[in-house]
Amino acid sequence: MDPLPIHTIICLVCWSFGLLPFYVSSSSRLLPNKPLSAGSTITSDDGTFALGFFSLSSSSTKYYYVGIWYRNIPEDNIVWVANRAMPITDPSSATLAFTSGSDLALSDTSGQLLWTTNISAARNSSSEATGGEATLDNNGNFILRSSHGTILWQSFDYPTDTLLPGMNLRITHKTHALQQLISWRNPQDPSPGNFSYGADPDEFRQRITWNGSAPYRRSLVWNNNLVVGKYVESIKSTIYYTLQTIGDEIYASFGLPVPSVSLVLMKIDYSGKIKTQIWNSNSSKWTDQYSGPNQECNKFGYCGPFGYCDNTQPIVTCKCLDGFEPNNKQDWTTRRFSQGCHRMEALRCGQGDGFLNMSTMKIPDQFLYVKNKSLDECIAECTSNCSCTAYTYTTMRTNAIDEDDTRCLLWIGDLIDTEKFIGQGENLYIRTEFWQIKTGRAMF
Ligand SMILES: *[C@@H]1O[C@H](CO)[C@@H](O)[C@H](O)[C@H]1NC(C)=O
Ligand SMILES: *[C@@H]1O[C@H](CO)[C@@H](O)[C@H](O)[C@H]1NC(C)=O
Repeated sequence: MDPLPIHTIICLVCWSFGLLPFYVSSSSRLLPNKPLSAGSTITSDDGTFALGFFSLSSSSTKYYYVGIWYRNIPEDNIVWVANRAMPITDPSSATLAFTSGSDLALSDTSGQLLWTTNISAARNSSSEATGGEATLDNNGNFILRSSHGTILWQSFDYPTDTLLPGMNLRITHKTHALQQLISWRNPQDPSPGNFSYGADPDEFRQRITWNGSAPYRRSLVWNNNLVVGKYVESIKSTIYYTLQTIGDEIYASFGLPVPSVSLVLMKIDYSGKIKTQIWNSNSSKWTDQYSGPNQECNKFGYCGPFGYCDNTQPIVTCKCLDGFEPNNKQDWTTRRFSQGCHRMEALRCGQGDGFLNMSTMKIPDQFLYVKNKSLDECIAECTSNCSCTAYTYTTMRTNAIDEDDTRCLLWIGDLIDTEKFIGQGENLYIRTEFWQIKTGRAMF
């Protein structure tokens, strides 16, 4: 990001006219009588975040945006953008200011409205006092409060491409819509790109990255109800991924145990990768703690029905699930995998079939969640239905969400978008003819 040269120019102009600069030095608050203009910023009390006008260096046409960035990080530092699709071309008298209706509004030099918090329309204008102040918190949340102190709007409720610790992403919806992260178009253009990330609308236990409207990458299925921790050696700390119920909706968030000096974020980059990044102050770079997809093979459904992406081999490639072979062997040898695999031996349901375990798997898409089942009941549920091709079973350590700590998942029909990993993943039990189990291919 470019530090704005404009304030320098303005100051020189001011100075040459013997005036004081019109911008106020950084404070963490925006007040009704003090609009924000290009060249001034507001800064969180601890100095971590700044909010103001910025432009991006190497774009040919200079566009300006209002956003929030890490103040002490020189590049790749923007975490939120207000007017991402409505850039400012002439910032000289653009302002971010309170409106009479207690909204915040960004207008350009010609007075055109580029962005607004848009809350006054939804409120009963007579019932609430007008806008009091907007503050930038130490966690990067820009909060607009009424003069009574009620939160009217906050940037954490309107994520762009980045999730910061403490931000919640809504993954089920009743009253409100699902929330998504939406990629930038390219590293120089924050306007909404092709990739988005959020919960599968039919199943909050998995998150999907979409390319346009097509699934591009599916996460591992959440196998706990509350908190999953991942220890990260470089920061000697655990990153927690959490689900929680707020009101009648479920939210996902992540973060470090407090207090922590490390800077971490999750974002969807312009190429569609989901990343968890940690700021490395020694190298002055973001380190990817997680980034995916990393291989063609990791893309959604890449290996076709009953195929899986084998990440355990030096050359990551598609394979057929145990007991299956390629539908089109020639395609398969030329690395076209989309037609997938079929059973080597047709199932004779109830006559000598059983289940073969494949371990450390990303379990397939399109499962049925059968609630409140013991392991035996779960197996029986799949066994008794000839269309059931696989099951998986876990008991979860916590049951904060929907008061059921069992997780019996069944698949009816094709198994798609499956992967095998080293050291993570689940046991997947695939329905197979018994001869295969007897030939020793099974692992129980
Ligand atoms: C995203 O979708 C578009 C349109 O279908 C396609 O051209 C592009 O290659 C896709 N991008 C990736 C990274 O797969
Ligand atoms: C098998 O399960 C599916 C999904 O629940 C159901 O639609 C189908 O009717 C079941 N088949 C039998 C024979 O029970």
